[in-house]
Amino acid sequence: MKNFLIFCLVVISCILESSAHYTQQWAVEIEGGQQVADDVARDHGFINHGLIFSDHYHFSHSGVAKRSLTPNAEKVTRLAVDTRVKSAKQQVAKRRVKRDLKVQDSDPKWQFMWYLNRGGGLDLNVIPAWMEGITGKGAVVTILDDGLEKDHPDLLQNYDPMASYDVNGQDSDPSPRYDMIDSNRHGTRCAGEVAATSNNSVCALGVAYGAQVGGVRMLDGDVTDAVEARSLSLNPHHVDVYSASWGPDDDGKTVDGPGELAVRAFIEGVTKGRNGKGSIFVWASGNGGRDHDNCNCDGYTNSIYSLSISSATEHGHVPWYSEACSSTLASTYSSGAVGERQIVTTDLRHSCTSSHTGTSASAPLAAGICALALEANPNLTWRDMQHIVVRTARPQNLIALDWQTNGVGRNVSHSFGYGLMDAHAMVQLARNWVTVPPQHKCEITAPNAIRPIPAKSVVVLQLQVKECPGVNVLEHVQAKLTIFSQRRGDLSIQLTSPMGTRVTLLAHRALDNSRQGFNVWPFMSVHSWGESPFGTWQLEIHNDGRLLDEVKFWQLTLHGTSTPPAHDTQNGNGENPLSEVSSDDISHNSIYDYSSNWDSGAENRKETLEVEETEKSTSGCAKPDGNLCIECLQNHYLYQRICIQMCPEKYFNSILEYDESRKIQNLSKDETCLPCHYSCKNCIGSLDSNCVECYGDAKIVRTSSTDSYCYPVHILSEVLSEKWYYRMFTLTYIIVISMTILTVIYLCCKRRQILQNDDMSYITLGVEDDLKSSQKDIKSIYTDNE
Ligand SMILES: *[C@@H]1O[C@H](CO)[C@@H](O)[C@H](O)[C@H]1NC(C)=O
Ligand SMILES: *[C@@H]1O[C@H](CO)[C@@H](O)[C@H](O)[C@H]1NC(C)=O
Ligand SMILES: *[C@@H]1O[C@H](CO)[C@@H](O)[C@H](O)[C@H]1NC(C)=O
Ligand SMILES: *[C@@H]1O[C@H](CO)[C@@H](O)[C@H](O)[C@H]1NC(C)=O
Repeated sequence: MKNFLIFCLVVISCILESSAHYTQQWAVEIEGGQQVADDVARDHGFINHGLIFSDHYHFSHSGVAKRSLTPNAEKVTRLAVDTRVKSAKQQVAKRRVKRDLKVQDSDPKWQFMWYLNRGGGLDLNVIPAWMEGITGKGAVVTILDDGLEKDHPDLLQNYDPMASYDVNGQDSDPSPRYDMIDSNRHGTRCAGEVAATSNNSVCALGVAYGAQVGGVRMLDGDVTDAVEARSLSLNPHHVDVYSASWGPDDDGKTVDGPGELAVRAFIEGVTKGRNGKGSIFVWASGNGGRDHDNCNCDGYTNSIYSLSISSATEHGHVPWYSEACSSTLASTYSSGAVGERQIVTTDLRHSCTSSHTGTSASAPLAAGICALALEANPNLTWRDMQHIVVRTARPQNLIALDWQTNGVGRNVSHSFGYGLMDAHAMVQLARNWVTVPPQHKCEITAPNAIRPIPAKSVVVLQLQVKECPGVNVLEHVQAKLTIFSQRRGDLSIQLTSPMGTRVTLLAHRALDNSRQGFNVWPFMSVHSWGESPFGTWQLEIHNDGRLLDEVKFWQLTLHGTSTPPAHDTQNGNGENPLSEVSSDDISHNSIYDYSSNWDSGAENRKETLEVEETEKSTSGCAKPDGNLCIECLQNHYLYQRICIQMCPEKYFNSILEYDESRKIQNLSKDETCLPCHYSCKNCIGSLDSNCVECYGDAKIVRTSSTDSYCYPVHILSEVLSEKWYYRMFTLTYIIVISMTILTVIYLCCKRRQILQNDDMSYITLGVEDDLKSSQKDIKSIYTDNE
């Protein structure tokens, strides 16, 4: 039996390994400069394609198989024993997909660039910026994609060879490879959105038609860690904005991110690029909406270094391809449903298209707007740019169920981030922007985070943050989690900040059957931007599957500044959302634990905070802990560490969700108010199936005696047909399984009969004994697990 298991493991590991393809490329770390690197390359028969970044060179060897299941042992050894080589890694081909949509070119009549010229707050508000003479002059954008048709008549004038490279072909010409189906048109389309020339008789004009644009051809070949790193660090003192509309598969079951070198490239980019002001990486959030993918499972868009952009449709809806996640910063317009217009831009073979689509089309529009802001103020750092986007994006006219007002009064959604980017507002804010204070971070690991998560249950973990040196005002929040899971797609995870902002770090992914769980995966949220980090952070991990999971590790990484950005303290009016929180609101039973007024400075803030808490903890508390409360008296519920008599809207009384698994964890004891699923207005539990009341644009749908969901009215028909489809599927599944079992039983009986009639039964019986014992083995494994 043991041998059999080992055999299985070997087979499985072979299958897993066969998914890796070793390429002809190497990333080699050599100290001593270009000359030494060239010598090393020559001595071992490699070609040195140049520097990736400091001391890392991109080598290739034509004598090595283009794609191999195993690393090339000879070359690996030769480099390993060479003392000039600090490290060397044969590069593995990665799966990276473009984020356009496979939609037919349909309606060439729509030449109107509605997303730039509709007016009435229904466009990206670029025209007023252009009227002020801001067109992106002096800013340089590069499109990391499948190439760039540099002699396109609408791009020729703004084409920048210094922002261009062909990483696939190892030369300086980014021109795409032409084929029958124009499979490499993506980069050229994205470039036109940024900087197609204005006022010629060709096609369209870009958002930043005065900017320089280049292209990096890197998707048309093996995409390795080294290829990504080289692309992300192309000419970092010349290029200002890198626009990327690609990433790991958006198939609803992948969890993947940048490799070691690409991570280095991001960090080098933000710390050293643009002469220390930091490269600006704009990323498309992903097109996996139909497969219920979550952009927090994509390590590029959920990186704090990238400005992650989603899409809104012409009518302001969440597009069908959109992925909702808490790392999305803002949105721009793109394609939507049938009948909604798409994006007009340059196309391959000197042509023009009015049907560019997906989040692919959104990221370059955002990159163009960043170029406009950079012309207004070239001093902006990579973090300034994110701060400006957070403060100027407009939630108006974008329809989503999950808009929430965060602790500093900004509205934010998982589908749109802070809203639609506003070019003019960004330019205006950029003009007088004072560089934000330095970024600090603190890491706080939750003690005793190891907890089983029984089937159909939720584990709630809390982490008190009392100290976070250098961080008093939050920017990015990362929750790094290790979770063992039997089926990763059954997990959903929410994080609530001390100021009551609740984000979904992960929603169910129906297609994700992986057993790999998460290994210190950095889930990211921008929803607490500007909030205070101090107080109780609450993590909820829901396991809606039928098997036991386990959380192993939870660490919060809080990024931010010690003082608020100058913009927020300059004056108490205008865009400053903090000023909207009046002191009257604080003393009432407001939804937030406390509110603070940055204008009065850090010292005052602390005092206000303490006064607040003393006042709040006076009534209903059974077990006080300093100013806070641990347990409430009867008929009182613990909410944000105070005791109240009724849970507020969007929260439910935890005693309602009392079930077996909670009994085991003694969770019923603390009668607390827990947040509802974001789709419910009122609920009896934390799941999306526990709604009792919906928001205005949704309807309650009962799917069984216990489950009722809130579905947005406009997708109701779709969902219902989906449910029907699942039921059919389950029924078919049950029938197939029963048939199989019956067949097996039948065959076994038959076999027994044969054995009894057979003289040779001695040998055969031996086999059957083996079978019986192996069945026992399997049983014991099952019981061990349970
Ligand atoms: C195009 O040219 C016309 C006339 O030369 C000018 O009035 C107009 O402002 C230009 N438009 C843009 C977008 O540059
Ligand atoms: C940018 O920085 C330089 C040098 O510090 C300064 O002289 C200039 O005024 C700044 N520009 C803007 C728009 O803030
Ligand atoms: C946030 O949304 C609420 C509710 O829709 C609205 O009343 C409020 O004005 C919005 N706040 C901002 C800053 O847009
Ligand atoms: C739950 O409470 C019971 C009795 O009060 C106790 O024996 C048990 O250890 C508790 N379980 C946990 C997980 O704390």
